[in-house]
Amino acid sequence: MNVLVAAASRYGSTAAIAEAIGDVLQSRGFEVTVTRPQDVAALSEFDAVVLGSAVYMGHWLEAPIALAHRIGTDLPGRPVWLFSSGPVGDPSKKFAQQMDVDPVDLQEVQKATSAREHKRFSGKLDRHNLRGLQRVGLSLFRTIEGDFRDWKAVRLWAGSIADQLSAANAA
Ligand SMILES: Cc1cc2nc3c(=O)[nH]c(=O)nc-3n(C[C@H](O)[C@H](O)[C@H](O)COP(=O)(O)O)c2cc1C
Repeated sequence: MNVLVAAASRYGSTAAIAEAIGDVLQSRGFEVTVTRPQDVAALSEFDAVVLGSAVYMGHWLEAPIALAHRIGTDLPGRPVWLFSSGPVGDPSKKFAQQMDVDPVDLQEVQKATSAREHKRFSGKLDRHNLRGLQRVGLSLFRTIEGDFRDWKAVRLWAGSIADQLSAANAA
């Protein structure tokens, strides 16, 4: 089984989550391609897709949304899983909690792909990636800076995808 793991990332932290998902799937015996959504050429070789995006100002990036529509057209009926990487900050703090909501585009992406599931993972925020007003904003909300990625949660989720694909293969 060929599995595509495509995720959009501005600063690399979501791409690393995609790599971790790919590693788990590969260790479970699947053929895996991990790439950026904008680099996906033909979809027809893939039996399943994991599609993800970093969330900025409540939205997925554009390339994975465009790919979701291609998946709907080119791979009808194939299993698709979605993930978002976004919330940053101490989960007990209000600001992080406000971010911890589904991205605005989720409905559109879910409708296009008929995805089985959508998972939200915590992300990473590095002040060096921010400029101007964003950097000033961060100084007011220092608790959101840092790496909040939960690798155990990522690997668990990837394992559950592998379980579902293995069960489908065996049926
Ligand atoms: C300007 C800015 C806006 C953001 N907006 C959101 C948001 O609305 N919701 C959210 O969950 N995370 C938001 N984040 C957090 C990012 O999604 C998080 O840092 C993510 O891990 C970045 O992934 P990347 O390194 O792959 O680009 C924002 C981060 C920045 C810098």
